[in-house]
Amino acid sequence: MFPTALPPSRVPDPMDAPPLRWGILGSGWIAEQFIRSVRAHTRQDIAAVGSRSQDKADAFAREWGIGTAHGSYEALVADDSLDVIYVATPHNMHHPHVMMALEAGRNVLVEKPMALDHAQAAEMVALARAKGLFLCEALWTYFLPKFDVLQQVFDSGALGEIKSVHTEYGEYFTRDHRIFDARLAGGPLLDLGTYPLSLISKLLGPAKQLVGLKQDDPSGVHGQLSVIMANAAGNQGVMSTTLYGLTPTNAAIVGTGGTVRFGSEFNLPGPFEVISADTTTRLRHDEPVGRHFEGLFYEAAAVARCIAEGKAEAPQRPLDATLQMMRLIDEIREVLGISWAAAG
Ligand SMILES: NC(=O)c1ccc[n+]([C@@H]2O[C@H](COP(=O)([O-])OP(=O)(O)OC[C@H]3O[C@@H](n4cnc5c(N)ncnc54)[C@H](OP(=O)(O)O)[C@@H]3O)[C@@H](O)[C@H]2O)c1
Repeated sequence: MFPTALPPSRVPDPMDAPPLRWGILGSGWIAEQFIRSVRAHTRQDIAAVGSRSQDKADAFAREWGIGTAHGSYEALVADDSLDVIYVATPHNMHHPHVMMALEAGRNVLVEKPMALDHAQAAEMVALARAKGLFLCEALWTYFLPKFDVLQQVFDSGALGEIKSVHTEYGEYFTRDHRIFDARLAGGPLLDLGTYPLSLISKLLGPAKQLVGLKQDDPSGVHGQLSVIMANAAGNQGVMSTTLYGLTPTNAAIVGTGGTVRFGSEFNLPGPFEVISADTTTRLRHDEPVGRHFEGLFYEAAAVARCIAEGKAEAPQRPLDATLQMMRLIDEIREVLGISWAAAG
């Protein structure tokens, strides 16, 4: 039976999440967005920052009013007063930095993608599990209230069999951005691509077949790519991503029972519609369109709740979901001939 109304979000008030002491590892763009959003909407304590130099750590701590500035990542993860480390360095450093934090006995939220490939991610997950520590990939989309509503729609079976998932994501970057740097595993696949690919992987499972095209950029990274994957049932996921300019960043999920259409960027706060296959019923979820400031704090609050409750992973972004997406990324790289060799 197709529903007559959408369920409300079950995401609890982020202000009620138990306040944990966070250590920020790496003081770049996303670290700043995270601090701004989390401070405004939760009671989480951004207690320390770790940077590659003491001068940079001191300057960042002064600017953001952070109590402790560590002049190395090693010193940050050795800080026993911290409950959780947020790893916000470029993709190719996630593996060494997360392993270091886990070895030091710290819980970790790591920026997406968790690692460069499945093998690295599997090692990180194995270490976290062996030590009984919390680990999560910061794919904040799945912590948003709108995705909790969508999850209930998926779980209800109202969409029937998912036949296809259509996704794309493009943004403009200046040439000095790390996304154009092959040594930092640049290109859109590990960056923008993680949003569409996580959705395809979540809804369709592993790829049985995969085809695609890429275009290389003179900087040495891939500049854009498009892939079609089919799962064991032959149902299709379609995705394209580019670093040459802004695209709608939209998605559609087409099932035998109904379709989901997004009213704005699918991975950010904003409205969506669930439409019955015969189009006679249209259910609309309304919420203001937002970006990082309006969204990042949900993952921080959820992580705080998990850690306080002694959970080792977040149900919104299970570690097996991360591993499955990393396997899909490996397969895309193999088919398209993309290597992270320069990233070392
Ligand atoms: N969730 C999201 O919406 C979102 C958005 C953007 C990025 N991200 C993810 O967050 C991660 C960081 O991205 P970002 O845009 O914040 O990068 P960024 O602005 O370049 O910052 C990265 C930080 O990592 C540290 N770092 C260590 N070694 C480095 C090196 N060799 N080169 C550059 N930086 C180095 C630096 O901090 P110190 O100087 O303090 O050591 C630097 O400030 C990426 O994995 C990306 O996928 C997520």
